[in-house]
Amino acid sequence: MKKISKIINSKNKKKLVCLTAYSKPFAKILDNHCDIVLVGDSLATAMLGMKNTHHINIDTMILHAISVRSNLNKAICVVDMPANSYKNIKQAKQNAKKIFNKTKCDAVKLECDGKNYKIIKSIVDIGIPVMGHIGFTPQHFKKFKVQGVLGNERKKLLEQAVKNQEAGVFSLVLECINGSTAKAVTKLLKIPTIGIGASIHCDGQILVTDDMLGLSGFYPKFIKKFANLNNIIEIGVKKYKKAVLNKKFPSKKNTF
Ligand code: KIV
Repeated sequence: MKKISKIINSKNKKKLVCLTAYSKPFAKILDNHCDIVLVGDSLATAMLGMKNTHHINIDTMILHAISVRSNLNKAICVVDMPANSYKNIKQAKQNAKKIFNKTKCDAVKLECDGKNYKIIKSIVDIGIPVMGHIGFTPQHFKKFKVQGVLGNERKKLLEQAVKNQEAGVFSLVLECINGSTAKAVTKLLKIPTIGIGASIHCDGQILVTDDMLGLSGFYPKFIKKFANLNNIIEIGVKKYKKAVLNKKFPSKKNTF
């Protein structure tokens, strides 16, 4: 809870650095640099090759979350509740408890469908911190569209943001939201906003690590490639292949 309060208190003081992780090696690196590490259900598309995030199940999320959580010491670990795992209050509470108890994560994240505020509140009320998520919420949309451009969309997002805050979320992801709307949401809320494709005006930023490291092959406008891991991996694989074909590996040094 102390860690969660620290995140809330960072508003207007320090930008929050957040990234996703699905495994031990990434968690270990991210722990030294991130405030929040999210085990996102983007695991489905970025790592497991699924078409969207609609069908990843809770046990797969838990398996990866255990690997991530057990390798974080400083950063907060948030785990996405997968689609269909929080359709009603009873199911949501049961599944949030399962994720929280099995993974020892610090919080869960729920995508807002514009109606599920009582569900969000029911999880907060049993003592499990919740991160909210509005805008382009991949569990509910099939086709990509920037949100909050039109006046009525902006009004709806502002309402959703306030209702998430009232339901008790400790932070709110704003995904693919027009810059001026993201700025207005951020100004309106007491809790920090965390943007992905939602401008510089948010209190923090998050990206899918596989995207920003050039590993996933998914590079829409809002992603900046901060490294090109695909190239680095390919160079290594080519060197290995050459060494095997030329009988240079394993050498004496690598032999018992
Ligand atoms: O699943 C995910 O990785 C996410 C982030 C993109 C916010 O929800």
